[in-house]
Amino acid sequence: KTERLAAILSQSPVIPVLTFEDAASGVETAKALRDGGLKVLEVTLRTPASMEALKAIIDEVEGVTVGAGTVLEPEHVQDAVRVGAAFLISPGVSSRLLAAGSEAPVPFMPGVATASEAMQLAERGATFAKFFPAGPAGGPDYLKALVAPLPDLHFVPTGGITLKNAQDYLAVRNVAAVGGSWVAPTDAIRNGDWAAIRALAKEASALKAR
Ligand code: 3PG
Repeated sequence: KTERLAAILSQSPVIPVLTFEDAASGVETAKALRDGGLKVLEVTLRTPASMEALKAIIDEVEGVTVGAGTVLEPEHVQDAVRVGAAFLISPGVSSRLLAAGSEAPVPFMPGVATASEAMQLAERGATFAKFFPAGPAGGPDYLKALVAPLPDLHFVPTGGITLKNAQDYLAVRNVAAVGGSWVAPTDAIRNGDWAAIRALAKEASALKAR
């Protein structure tokens, strides 16, 4: 599963973090992001329609790799796997969730914000962790300091990332990709402004991972 996650993350420097109020806008947003060049998508499980949106994108949008985000409970793991999620991401980790994630048939990437959390994950064999909330926790400089003593762990910073600072994170050693909602703003989704989302994706897809 680690190799599968590495392969997924290497497809794209930016993973859109997406929140949908309905399935139809999820499908259109996913198409716009794909057409703009972002093909790895994280659909957060934080709205009543999120599971339906995740399923609709998986079933209806070709050429994208779709995972579930904001996975907080073992039930989320099971539901997301049932609809076909390719990967699972959590802002943090609990022992119940870690157990469910490691039993899942698809890669699970938990979140960390400190050296101790990162070391606990590494001890359990993790290779990839979400670094969350990246900006408020301390940004690229903090991450650089965190990575220094932990050379085997790779990170996906998320939280407060924008087109302006994304490259600063991507320049840090062991950063596989960054995640963020800036490529699919709530207003653009609500207004059906797919052209705006396509343009934001195009800009973001030009960023370069190390
Ligand atoms: C997440 O769940 O990863 C974050 O809420 C995304 O953070 P952002 O909205 O600051 O990009």
